[in-house]
Amino acid sequence: MKNSTIQYRKIHVAASSSYDILIGDNMLACLGEELHSLLGECRLALLTDSNVDALYGNLMTDMLSAAGYDVCKYVIPAGEESKSAENMLAFLNFMAENRLTRSDALIAFGGGVVGDLGGLSASLYLRGIPYIQVPTTLLAAVDSSVGGKTAIDVPAGKNLVGAFYQPRLVCCDTTLMDTLSTDIYRDGCAEVIKYGVILDAALYDRLHTVPFDRIDVVARCVEIKRDVVQEDEFDNGKRGLLNFGHTFGHAIEKLSNFAVSHGAAVAKGMLIAAKMAPLCGLADIEASLTALLQRYGFDLDCPYSAEELYDVILSDKKRRGGKLTLVLPRAIGECDLVTMPVEEVLVKLKQIL
Ligand code: GLY
Repeated sequence: MKNSTIQYRKIHVAASSSYDILIGDNMLACLGEELHSLLGECRLALLTDSNVDALYGNLMTDMLSAAGYDVCKYVIPAGEESKSAENMLAFLNFMAENRLTRSDALIAFGGGVVGDLGGLSASLYLRGIPYIQVPTTLLAAVDSSVGGKTAIDVPAGKNLVGAFYQPRLVCCDTTLMDTLSTDIYRDGCAEVIKYGVILDAALYDRLHTVPFDRIDVVARCVEIKRDVVQEDEFDNGKRGLLNFGHTFGHAIEKLSNFAVSHGAAVAKGMLIAAKMAPLCGLADIEASLTALLQRYGFDLDCPYSAEELYDVILSDKKRRGGKLTLVLPRAIGECDLVTMPVEEVLVKLKQIL
């Protein structure tokens, strides 16, 4: 697609509400025009974090002002700790103090924390206002900005309070990823590799070329997630495939007190799942996945014992009674949802770790 002089990909999502995901270099330059056709005249609340604000805050507000929008900006400190009820209430109050109405809109400009907190705030403010996701990390571009899962963390756990609330538009400017640190970029690569393992062997093969073509790969991951969300928006079945590596990954993140980042933990978690698959009569992709993850520089050691992981897994929000559903590969590009008693997970973990 072409907008003025910018070339971009457009992926349409037909969920409970429909929207487009635009992906391309320098997409921010198109945002004003897109907002005009989508929302017409309105005021905008811009939610961002301190890192993104320092790099791109002025660019964004100048661009929105030039497009004729009155913008009130709210900046939260960068980091997972910001995904709190306190910050969300303060932001909701900020929108109320600025007298935003139902015909106004919110822009979540940042990574997963900003997108999740912004989306949930949009679902709650005046019982729902439109919001636009402008992801700035690879991870947010391929995962959290797509599909309408919004959440905040509470002391008992991550993402335990949230809503399904679809954005009105996702505008992914891949140029913004140029300033990501290697570690943050690598976090997103774990999710990209995940899409290859669960649903697309051709993508998995393509990822052996490092670095990959960013726009092509982001667009393919978004298409895969779009297809899953269209089939199972409210996470009652197929959407569970997107959790490949996440049950063990979340446990590792939590045990490390979040010193191990999400992507690094998911990489370790995917490898544990790959080792578990042959124990359940499924495929053995361990060697192939290890080699690919190592190509991206992931440290694959799991510093925790089977018992330590199991203790945390017991409080996983995906546990149903005494059973847990794991995502295990049947082949590269094809995964099964395998439900087993939690005790069996411990027995298998002991065989692996
Ligand atoms: N991040 C997993 C999902 O959106 O379902």
